[in-house]
Amino acid sequence: MSKNTQVEEAKPICEALKRFKRSRLVLEPSLGILGFFLVGLCLVWSFFYFDYRSVVKSYGVSDNSERFVWLKLDNKSSSNNNSTSVSSLKRVGFLEESGNDCDVFDGDWVWDESYPLYHSKDCRFLDEGFRCSEFGRSDLFFTHWRWQPKHCNLPSFDAKVMLEKLRDKRLVFVGDSIGRNQWESLLCLLSSAVKNESSVYEVNGSPITKHRGFLVFKFEDYNCTVEYYRSPFLVPQSRPPRGSPAKVKTTLKLDTMDWTSSKWRDADLLVFNTGHWWNYGKTVRTGCYFQEGEKVKLKMNVDDAYKRAMETVVKWIQTKVDSNKTRVFFRTFAPVHFRGGDWKTGGTCHLETLPEIGTSLVSSETWEQLKILEDVLSQYSNRSEIVKMKMLNITAMAAQRKDGHPSIYYLGSLGPAPLHRQDCSHWCLPGVPDTWNEVLYALFMKQEASSSATRDEEANSTGNVTMS
Ligand SMILES: *[C@@H]1O[C@H](CO)[C@@H](O)[C@H](O)[C@H]1NC(C)=O
Ligand SMILES: *[C@@H]1O[C@H](CO)[C@@H](O)[C@H](O)[C@H]1NC(C)=O
Ligand SMILES: *[C@@H]1O[C@H](CO)[C@@H](O)[C@H](O)[C@H]1NC(C)=O
Ligand SMILES: *[C@@H]1O[C@H](CO)[C@@H](O)[C@H](O)[C@H]1NC(C)=O
Ligand SMILES: *[C@@H]1O[C@H](CO)[C@@H](O)[C@H](O)[C@H]1NC(C)=O
Ligand SMILES: *[C@@H]1O[C@H](CO)[C@@H](O)[C@H](O)[C@H]1NC(C)=O
Ligand SMILES: *[C@@H]1O[C@H](CO)[C@@H](O)[C@H](O)[C@H]1NC(C)=O
Ligand SMILES: *[C@@H]1O[C@H](CO)[C@@H](O)[C@H](O)[C@H]1NC(C)=O
Ligand SMILES: *[C@@H]1O[C@H](CO)[C@@H](O)[C@H](O)[C@H]1NC(C)=O
Ligand SMILES: *[C@@H]1O[C@H](CO)[C@@H](O)[C@H](O)[C@H]1NC(C)=O
Repeated sequence: MSKNTQVEEAKPICEALKRFKRSRLVLEPSLGILGFFLVGLCLVWSFFYFDYRSVVKSYGVSDNSERFVWLKLDNKSSSNNNSTSVSSLKRVGFLEESGNDCDVFDGDWVWDESYPLYHSKDCRFLDEGFRCSEFGRSDLFFTHWRWQPKHCNLPSFDAKVMLEKLRDKRLVFVGDSIGRNQWESLLCLLSSAVKNESSVYEVNGSPITKHRGFLVFKFEDYNCTVEYYRSPFLVPQSRPPRGSPAKVKTTLKLDTMDWTSSKWRDADLLVFNTGHWWNYGKTVRTGCYFQEGEKVKLKMNVDDAYKRAMETVVKWIQTKVDSNKTRVFFRTFAPVHFRGGDWKTGGTCHLETLPEIGTSLVSSETWEQLKILEDVLSQYSNRSEIVKMKMLNITAMAAQRKDGHPSIYYLGSLGPAPLHRQDCSHWCLPGVPDTWNEVLYALFMKQEASSSATRDEEANSTGNVTMS
């Protein structure tokens, strides 16, 4: 598991492509299509690899082919270790002290053949809906991208190290099905370091597929659990107060933390997410209105409700979580990539095989939601309180990965879905959520390092976690 990506620089493109061709494409049926993919990949790569976006604009297509030729020649410099390309600049390791100021969410996707970190057929913990390549998706490009922060290198994910740090601890994901997506990714990443299959199990024997409620996986050798609680809004949804209008079927209690919070309040690591359910279609249109105290707010719009709920969550973290024990992470919204429609209305991401670097198809509502969250958090820094929570600010990085979704391959053994019912919200695994977990790993290791460094001093910085 311990791949040396921290020191390994992005490989020059053509060497990578050659090897790719040798190792994988041999298996593929149509070389014509593959050639097309490869050329496409090279072109796209050449656009962002050098970050020449502005230069590129002023050149015609012929120049791209010249760049292509140059890339082939670059082959030479790749065989010694002194590639001079931009991406080979020496970066500090994030875990080193000089990496302290590095924003790990500011970066690029780079091609890396040492990825993926696992294969879905080797992982028992995946819903069928995430096993895209097992159920029909034939291109594997999407599994080979690594996230490269601009100003530092992430540590390689080392499952053994993570499990050792999690010994006797609980790691809990709370959120919607995209949170489950990330949780399953982490189960795969961690379990790949455990030899004895039967030593990793759900404590109540519940099956993973289509299970709602919660699931608790134990890694027996490490006496640790990795848990998932379904809570798409983070605040409870329940029956409306008596005497409410008939159109009010349920309400979201914006000033209350999810009922299950008593079960995970004492976890050692908490990873929240929410977002995909905060829209009109999943709330008011279905008769789900918003409630504060005993009052149902029939006129409240979704953005205001979301803001109120986020205030509840942050306040809960500030007052109810023991910051000496529990580290809290909040993963930001992961954008959807429906092009030309929405879920069930013909929106599509099928046949997207490459990331989109630079621009993205993300709707402005996505950024709006991120901004609301930032506003809520800044109220605390404004009051010079420390927000006891780290952001997993993955919105921008995920926005570039329109190629990462199951599209029509989410029905598992039932076969591909009709084209007008694509899943462009969840993510294939292995895939993009693995990266969120690599970043989670990096932040967790960083905190572990800093807390052990200060353990002997006045414990003055423990829990002194600011938003990054
Ligand atoms: C590229 O590398 C291969 C071996 O890795 C070598 O055989 C070939 O001559 C190189 N091509 C150029 C143009 O350097
Ligand atoms: C790499 O570059 C350094 C200086 O920039 C040089 O000393 C070294 O010999 C080079 N190594 C190779 C393999 O070319
Ligand atoms: C490149 O670096 C690796 C270790 O980082 C070393 O094993 C290898 O010999 C080097 N290759 C060349 C051509 O210098
Ligand atoms: C396992 O971890 C829990 C905390 O999650 C702890 O209370 C318990 O004592 C541990 N059991 C063993 C055998 O170490
Ligand atoms: C594997 O784990 C199971 C469950 O804890 C245990 O009963 C069994 O003895 C273990 N097998 C080996 C070879 O350690
Ligand atoms: C954290 O622990 C320190 C000493 O170990 C204690 O002084 C402090 O009150 C604790 N903070 C909280 C929020 O419990
Ligand atoms: C603090 O927040 C309030 C609104 O919550 C805002 O009006 C005020 O300008 C902020 N103060 C500073 C110093 O940012
Ligand atoms: C998250 O990332 C976006 C884009 O990289 C940036 O604009 C925003 O300020 C970041 N938010 C936080 C809380 O770090
Ligand atoms: C807090 O810790 C820092 C080093 O992490 C140290 O320089 C500083 O003096 C400490 N402050 C107090 C009040 O103990
Ligand atoms: C937390 O860190 C800030 C600087 O980031 C420092 O000013 C403050 O004293 C620290 N708080 C504690 C309780 O040590």
